[in-house]
Amino acid sequence: MRLKNVSKITIGIVFVLLSVSALQLLVQSAVAATPQLPNNSCADCHRRLLFSTEEQRQFIDIRIKHLESGISCSIVCHEDKLNKSTASSYALWSISTHALFNVTCEKCHGGNQLASTKTEAHVGLSNNSIARANTPETCGKCHESQLAEFKSSLHFKKLESGEEGPAPACITCHQAHSVRVLTASEIEDFCSNCHNNITGIDPSVPKRAANALSSVNELQVEFSKARSAIITAKASGQDVTGAEAELDSARTIMKNIPSVWHRFNLTYFDTEVQRGVANTQKAEKSLEENTATPAPQKSPGFEGFMLLAGLLAVYLIKRR
Ligand code: HEC
Ligand code: HEC
Ligand code: HEC
Ligand code: HEC
Ligand code: HEC
Repeated sequence: MRLKNVSKITIGIVFVLLSVSALQLLVQSAVAATPQLPNNSCADCHRRLLFSTEEQRQFIDIRIKHLESGISCSIVCHEDKLNKSTASSYALWSISTHALFNVTCEKCHGGNQLASTKTEAHVGLSNNSIARANTPETCGKCHESQLAEFKSSLHFKKLESGEEGPAPACITCHQAHSVRVLTASEIEDFCSNCHNNITGIDPSVPKRAANALSSVNELQVEFSKARSAIITAKASGQDVTGAEAELDSARTIMKNIPSVWHRFNLTYFDTEVQRGVANTQKAEKSLEENTATPAPQKSPGFEGFMLLAGLLAVYLIKRR
């Protein structure tokens, strides 16, 4: 379950543009755009709920300004407060990747999405499943690989222990309804909300995390380079089997990186990324070696075999 990386970037850009315009629509008291959904009373009814208080309008204003100037949300985020308002949860959700993939309200909240009255629909709404510390399990029902990695993180251990002090859950970093993905350029600011000298929670993390995510871009660039080199070599009749095997290893690593990230072990993460980069470099190197010695006409083992047979013959003759 994963969008292609290229389309992810496009979706990211489109998402920010959509966020700004859809929220602006709401400020003007218009109803947000409706995603095409099959029979879902939660979405149908909640779409019609508009902002009722001046305070909610002000939050939307702040949020738009943040989006426009590219400021990421802080931990005490306006969006968190927004999430508490019934109308904004729909608004934020309706322009999210979740809306696009039909991850509707009841998937996280429970309730009956086929009932048409509020009272009936709300039967079975759960406060448990949306409690912050329980979001790993709620979200992990669908994001299994992220959950699996997250469970071995110190973040999860801290959350699970219920001890005093902050620890991030899935919605701390992604928000409950917009399910944003922090980019490499936002990460430093975001992580330093907790990782700083005042809290004393490893203040080296933000910078290292930013570097770690940037090195993923480097891997992607190296991967594309190796891939085009292989395509060119193949077209000119070169043997690319070895290079393709290396590229496949790099592809597997790249595929796992978004979940491996959630282990929040930056040393391990770096090792994985560097392993991927090494694979792409080996792929290119093996192509260069192939061009240095152009592909032989006969099967490669043949000459060696003839040479050995010749030597054996000389040896046998001499012995006699
Ligand atoms: C016919 C309209 C209607 C339908 C259908 C509906 N809701 Fe609501 N919902 C509301 C209104 C109005 C509120 C505002 C708070 C209130 O008055 O209870 C609300 C509030 C909520 C809240 C805030 C917590 C609470 O208990 O007040 C949640 C969560 C929620 N709805 C989820 C859902 C889900 C999930 C579904 C579908 C299974 C759903 N709603 C279906 C009208 C509806
Ligand atoms: C991916 C899971 C998910 C989906 C889908 C989702 N929500 Fe939520 N929702 C949450 C979580 C988690 C919280 C708690 C947020 C927090 O504590 O900051 C929440 C909070 C809320 C609240 C505030 C509840 C309160 O008691 O404070 C409302 C209202 C709400 N959601 C409505 C909706 C509606 C309406 C939809 C569909 C349009 C929806 N949600 C879709 C996960 C989800
Ligand atoms: C019912 C299944 C389901 C649940 C529950 C669910 N998700 Fe998702 N989520 C999806 C699907 C499907 C996608 C889109 C395909 C993909 O990227 O995997 C997605 C995408 C995402 C993305 C990527 C968004 C992007 O723009 O690339 C994030 C982040 C995310 N979900 C976080 C969460 C969080 C946090 C929760 C819990 C609050 C959650 N999800 C709960 C199914 C779910
Ligand atoms: C401390 C912050 C943080 C926490 C906690 C966190 N994530 Fe993420 N998540 C991120 C970042 C940053 C990325 C982007 C990673 C990348 O670019 O490789 C991401 C990426 C994702 C994606 C998108 C992966 C893709 O295919 O592009 C999903 C889905 C996701 N997280 C789900 C979850 C779930 C589920 C949880 C809870 C079990 C969770 N996250 C907890 C920061 C966090
Ligand atoms: C809500 C607070 C909070 C946020 C936000 C947060 N962390 Fe943490 N982080 C912690 C806590 C608490 C620990 C555990 C420290 C301990 O037990 O020693 C931790 C530990 C870690 C560790 C392991 C410790 C180490 O020195 O290697 C890494 C890596 C880490 N966090 C990465 C991140 C990244 C990356 C982000 C931003 C995407 C982030 N954290 C955001 C609270 C937070």
